[in-house]
Amino acid sequence: MRSAEQFHREAVEKLRAGIPGPAIVAASGGIDSTIAALLAQEALGERSHALFVDTGLLRAGEVERVRQFFEASHLRFELVPAEPRFLGALRGVTDPEEKRRRIGREFIRLFEEEAKRRRAEVLIQGTIAPDWIESGGQLRDTIKTHHNVGGVPDDVDIRIVEPLRDLYKDEIRTLAHYLKVPEPDRQPFPGPGLAVRVNGPVTPEMVAICRSANAIVEEEVERAVQQGSIARPWQYFAVLLPVRTVGVTGDNRIFGHAVSVRVVESVDAMTATAMGLPPELLRAISERITRTLPGQVTRVLYDITDKPPATIEWE
Ligand code: XMP
Repeated sequence: MRSAEQFHREAVEKLRAGIPGPAIVAASGGIDSTIAALLAQEALGERSHALFVDTGLLRAGEVERVRQFFEASHLRFELVPAEPRFLGALRGVTDPEEKRRRIGREFIRLFEEEAKRRRAEVLIQGTIAPDWIESGGQLRDTIKTHHNVGGVPDDVDIRIVEPLRDLYKDEIRTLAHYLKVPEPDRQPFPGPGLAVRVNGPVTPEMVAICRSANAIVEEEVERAVQQGSIARPWQYFAVLLPVRTVGVTGDNRIFGHAVSVRVVESVDAMTATAMGLPPELLRAISERITRTLPGQVTRVLYDITDKPPATIEWE
């Protein structure tokens, strides 16, 4: 990308010239797809329909937060509630790649149905370069199947347009600043949502535990950032592990779950460093998680692994 201004101008012109009819836009609430949706709205006006899908795999308070974020970004959108559909598709699945494929397929089927209702033949997605590089194909190895690339089934009945395909995350942030999208430095959240942060089977109970633990990590880290005791990390979240581990409450031994806390620094998510956190922050996170989820979470771990060799998400 040579400059944000030039990219913006050319992308809008290209969308306008290439899409004669209505289009739907997959808007997840993340920065990438919000920028794609804003470009589409500018290029197509009323013909652009941004859809925000509640998959049931979102973080605590996310629907409301995304609503406010879209309003502040002046993006028109519709909320599509689809929790049973996604949780149903994931029932009994433990393999992370299979989770990603099923989520990708569910998104596409849902968008195909929504497109038919609006006579749209085009789906605009906020896919960026790492999504398709990591999804593999041709001579590239698959690092992980991004739901919006490798998770797309072969028999897609809609034309997919990806205006941000060649950009990396740092360029996206430059573009977000240029387009005055609020909070462009917000942490990324993966499209498959909490499904990649619940290791093992994705049940409503496991999603609820992961969601509560994650909200605590976010709150405590954000408080520490505001107090100036740490720099803003690239990403900070909780992962629910598929192990049972013994704990003790009063006179009882109980087998609860283990939660891993991941806080990393990065520039473009291609590499990352596990952040050293003050001991009192780590203790506050652990105490709050185990107090809020008594008997459910008996152990909290801190992940000290960089990327590489690990990835940011656990899957
Ligand atoms: P990893 O785990 O590969 O993640 O180190 C790199 C960055 O990508 C995010 N991520 C995703 N984002 N769809 C997305 O939009 C996905 O399927 C996906 N998987 C991972 C991850 O949170 C990190 O910022």
